[in-house]
Amino acid sequence: MANTIHLLYLFAVLTAAAAYHRPDLPPGPYCGLPSNNQCCTNRKDDCSHRILDTLCYCDEFCNRTRAHDDCCPDYESVCLGIQPEPEYLIQPCVYRNRQYYPGDKRTENCNTCECIITDEVKLTTEWRCDQDECLMSQDVVYGVNQPGMSWRAYNYSQFFGKKLKDGLKYKLGTFPLSPETKRMGAIRYDKNIPYPENFDARRRWPNFISPIVDQGWCGSDWAVSIAGVASDRFAIQSNGAENMVLSPQTLLSCNIRQQQGCAGGHIDVAWNFARGHGLVDENCFPYKAAVTRCPFKPKGTLITDGCRPRAPRTSRYKVGPPGRLNTEADIMYDIMESGPVQAVMTVYQDFFHYRDGIYRRSRHGDSMLQGRHSVRIVGWGEERGDKYWTVANSWGTEWGENGYFRIARGNNESGIESFVVTVLSDVTEANQRK
Ligand SMILES: *[C@@H]1O[C@H](CO)[C@@H](O)[C@H](O)[C@H]1NC(C)=O
Ligand SMILES: *[C@@H]1O[C@H](CO)[C@@H](O)[C@H](O)[C@H]1NC(C)=O
Ligand SMILES: *[C@@H]1O[C@H](CO)[C@@H](O)[C@H](O)[C@H]1NC(C)=O
Repeated sequence: MANTIHLLYLFAVLTAAAAYHRPDLPPGPYCGLPSNNQCCTNRKDDCSHRILDTLCYCDEFCNRTRAHDDCCPDYESVCLGIQPEPEYLIQPCVYRNRQYYPGDKRTENCNTCECIITDEVKLTTEWRCDQDECLMSQDVVYGVNQPGMSWRAYNYSQFFGKKLKDGLKYKLGTFPLSPETKRMGAIRYDKNIPYPENFDARRRWPNFISPIVDQGWCGSDWAVSIAGVASDRFAIQSNGAENMVLSPQTLLSCNIRQQQGCAGGHIDVAWNFARGHGLVDENCFPYKAAVTRCPFKPKGTLITDGCRPRAPRTSRYKVGPPGRLNTEADIMYDIMESGPVQAVMTVYQDFFHYRDGIYRRSRHGDSMLQGRHSVRIVGWGEERGDKYWTVANSWGTEWGENGYFRIARGNNESGIESFVVTVLSDVTEANQRK
């Protein structure tokens, strides 16, 4: 009885194998025949066998295409020693009308799918895919781009195929605010003055506002936003006498203690570094999107050759103690008086898709994952009664509105008003704005 079942199974397997190869072929052997010219090298036209009304070949020449159409059916097993693969008996995985075999892989946005055998006996297969949430989501693109939304979403090719968890780590980079950070001294103006409907630091101080940075695939927003705010404020407070772009790489490479470089940083620790050690010019230490060796002495004011500041400055570019701004009006007053400020916001999945308009969290895609991002607010405005902040991001100029975004103002959208930091630059006395 057991033997019968075994034979039946073998028969089924053989039929399946034969069915996969061309069923109309008379059974071999061909290359396996005990004759003189089995398996020839190069091209040898008489190294052939009659098969139906044509010839099949056992020379290497027949092997020149992947399909080796005119090789004899047993060429692979006899001449190349390749045993027929069990896949031939298997129901293949299918994707877009193409067949795949166990071990074959394909990607679906940020996830890898592999064709796996689900039943060793019936030889059935199926796709098994990672189930991670992706940075780019079709649901967000379609959901947000409906009439009535205040912003538009876009499928960014540079983000497509990346995982959301990696985006939250390497496109952002601000660690949770510690209780000490939250106790950072508040600055209150309480100015009861009429504010302009629109204000843009780039128009108020042309040439003093630092360009958009692309932080790359490195969680350095903490360094980039601080260097940006400090640069802008040096230029503004010195009325252009100290107008340079400061180097976030100084923080990334030299502010090592308590920080994790491209895996993220604490903004209060970074501000303290900028205050105690100062930053250097971007030209002197360009951004690398990676933690490199710090070329400066950690302490003191020594600056290597080629990095000397312009006279009368003798030290690196340092800032004063940072302070918090707690109200919409105080944030506006501070920007108008002394330049862009830093803000820490919550980033949800949909934000990565921002193309233009006034951002509000849409809840399309609605992943539970989120992250913290440090950015630079450069101004504000109103569009058909809708109030917004204008903010510099650090994802290059291809993203958003030339690297900037606008976000709803006055109701703490995505926490944008929950932790706003201002600072005064340590401008050389002779250069102080009068
Ligand atoms: C035959 O073709 C296969 C696949 O195209 C190739 O890997 C192999 O090296 C070839 N063998 C010979 C002997 O040409
Ligand atoms: C998004 O863009 C990628 C290529 O960058 C493309 O393969 C994918 O189909 C696009 N998705 C949607 C929903 O348009
Ligand atoms: C602003 O929103 C954040 C969360 O996004 C919250 O933690 C914070 O308490 C809010 N702040 C105010 C002043 O409402």
